[in-house]
Amino acid sequence: MKFRLLPLLVLLSTGAHAAGGENLMHAEVDLGNRASLQRGARTFVNYCVSCHSAGYARYSRVASDLGIPEKVVAENMMFTTEKVGDTMQVAMRKEDGEAWFGVAPPDLSVIARARGADWLTTFLSTFYLDPKRPAGANNLAFPDTAMPHVLWELQGLKRASTETRVEGGREVTRVVGLETVSAGLQSDEDYAGTVRDLVNFLVYLGEPAKLVRYKIGFWVMLFLFGFFWIAYLLKKEYWRDVH
Ligand code: HEC
Repeated sequence: MKFRLLPLLVLLSTGAHAAGGENLMHAEVDLGNRASLQRGARTFVNYCVSCHSAGYARYSRVASDLGIPEKVVAENMMFTTEKVGDTMQVAMRKEDGEAWFGVAPPDLSVIARARGADWLTTFLSTFYLDPKRPAGANNLAFPDTAMPHVLWELQGLKRASTETRVEGGREVTRVVGLETVSAGLQSDEDYAGTVRDLVNFLVYLGEPAKLVRYKIGFWVMLFLFGFFWIAYLLKKEYWRDVH
């Protein structure tokens, strides 16, 4: 019985994977790129913390991990607290969030692990105008999301171009692409960079220890290579008498 179920499970999981991975944009995550992480952090505190918290992240930790002086963080990046040792709390109350959006904006500490970097990139890039939605915007990665297009100023406004086809006797309308209605402050290329940096920062936020691990990993590898040579020379020395 167990074995008969196995192919079915495999089939289901690959099917689910294919559906989830459909049409996602590709994220470029580079945790070694400090400048990118810093830019991502700036976008995050300016555009996201007004609604979302990152309750597992402390400003002081972010500052030291990303090499931003605490003073700069305290003066330019903290809008919801005075103490640099505090976690990134949201400016808005949860009940207000629910009342305004129908659903409280979730904490984003580990969102990159829950959704994946590719999904986040697609989500942040594919808001489009939709008068049927309360906030006036819809999204390709998260249909009917309650989140407004908060980066519209940077990206500009997009409209969905749709295609209607008859499938199985029913008319089905699909979004086939997004076209610009009005340009934003950034070009498409620059906006893609903004999203790349922001997603990079969210990936860091999901696991800050990764940066430390990379650093330690480098020294461990260096030690192993160095030690390899010592071991090799020792071996040569010992076997000299035997040969
Ligand atoms: C005006 C308030 C507001 C701001 C500002 C805002 N969001 Fe949101 N966000 C929401 C709401 C509300 C939801 C819940 C959407 C839903 O469940 O339909 C949400 C959902 C999300 C989700 C999906 C979470 C999930 O369910 O998996 C992500 C990711 C996200 N926001 C990222 C961001 C980022 C990054 C920023 C900053 C650029 C940002 N948000 C700024 C209101 C906001």
